[in-house]
Amino acid sequence: MKTLILNGSPRKNGDTVSLIHIFLEGLEGEYKIVNAYEDGIGPCIDCRFCWENDGCSIQDGMQEVYEYIQVCDNILIVSPIYFSEIPCPALQFAALG
Ligand SMILES: Cc1cc2nc3c(=O)[nH]c(=O)nc-3n(C[C@H](O)[C@H](O)[C@H](O)COP(=O)(O)O)c2cc1C
Repeated sequence: MKTLILNGSPRKNGDTVSLIHIFLEGLEGEYKIVNAYEDGIGPCIDCRFCWENDGCSIQDGMQEVYEYIQVCDNILIVSPIYFSEIPCPALQFAALG
């Protein structure tokens, strides 16, 4: 079983990371963690590359997400909430839905 974990927190040892560690204690199989801040997830620039091609023209951490999402069994999006929204760098994760 493969699990993709999308971490939307900028804090290296914050609440979100604590929750991920608790989750990992009960997780079987392999997993990959992508962090919206550390892996430099950029915003959509409406370049329209994806209208005629697979994937995205922006070479950032999302490339890793696009690959793993094809083979994983589970996706976990875990993030703090800032002002009733998920933080901007993590919005690309929400767009996967
Ligand atoms: C600037 C800011 C705004 C926040 N806004 C909200 C909010 O609107 N609703 C909420 O429930 N928590 C809010 N929080 C609390 C965080 O979501 C919460 O502390 C979270 O557990 C932090 O996770 P982290 O330690 O991984 O960064 C806010 C925190 C900050 C720093």
